[in-house]
Amino acid sequence: MSFSPDWLALREPFDRAAREASSLDLQDLQQQASAAEAGTGGTPYRVLDLGCGTGANLRVLAPRLGGNQRWHLVDHDARLLAALPGAMTRWAETHRLKTAQGATDDSLVIEAAHWRAELSWQKADLVRELDALPFAGSQLVTTSALLDLVSASWLAALLTKVHEAQAALLCSLSVDGRIEWQPAMPADAQMAKLFAAHQHRDKGFGGPALGADAVPRAVERLVALGYRCVQAGSDWQLAAASGGARMLVQMIDGLADAALEQDPGARDLVLTWRLQRLAQAAHSSLQIGHAELLALPAKK
Ligand SMILES: C[S@@+](CC[C@H](N)C(=O)[O-])C[C@H]1O[C@@H](n2cnc3c(N)ncnc32)[C@H](O)[C@@H]1O
Repeated sequence: MSFSPDWLALREPFDRAAREASSLDLQDLQQQASAAEAGTGGTPYRVLDLGCGTGANLRVLAPRLGGNQRWHLVDHDARLLAALPGAMTRWAETHRLKTAQGATDDSLVIEAAHWRAELSWQKADLVRELDALPFAGSQLVTTSALLDLVSASWLAALLTKVHEAQAALLCSLSVDGRIEWQPAMPADAQMAKLFAAHQHRDKGFGGPALGADAVPRAVERLVALGYRCVQAGSDWQLAAASGGARMLVQMIDGLADAALEQDPGARDLVLTWRLQRLAQAAHSSLQIGHAELLALPAKK
């Protein structure tokens, strides 16, 4: 499944706001990051970011983790990876962070007052090349806006890898199925149902996508593996009145396209809903439920 750089750039501020407003406590990870540094004579905290896109997950997480970090970012989309260094450099400039070329072409160093990150990135398919990824030695495996796309079998394979590495796992921004419009319209419930069904279509991970079931399924397996799981909401809050007009229109179109693809027979309902929603967009707001999941390995 492919995602355009424009779509990732459009959603990034809403993703960031949702994560910043989330009650998820990252203290354990921050402590692990500083313990890794202290315990191994300055060795960086190693993070593996799967389905990285242009690197939005790092842009939220690296400043919050602090300390000395080494990130390896993986995606199968060459176009997104080509946009990654530019996105990082622009972000660094906006936040007055120093950047330097890393040891290879596909690497970069970002330095702030209280943290430093060495980044490398790699084009790889998470399905075909999962075994070749550097789980061993990673202290944190992380995803953002990825988990709901994956199949049950791929999730099981991922969690086995994470467990073997005794890494922590942070999965951000997985949809949880809640879609709440203000003001509500009668067709919203049917549209949400069609959208939820569409989210279970195969997204290229070797079977039906888990959609809103991804986090509960992951928690069940992680607990069985001895992990301590913490969850919190990270909902998108979109309102035309507070800078969300373009995103709202994009969501209306996206929901309508998905619903039509899911049930072409519902064409009249979908097109009427879309027209009414677009007409009301300037006075509407939309909350899309997302979940954060942090899983920490049992202490030895
Ligand atoms: C919704 S985007 C999220 C991107 C990024 N994590 C973010 O938060 O902006 C999902 C990402 O997963 C990547 N992806 C999807 N299927 C993949 C696969 N089989 N192998 C590697 N990357 C994949 C896409 O290219 C895309 O960058």
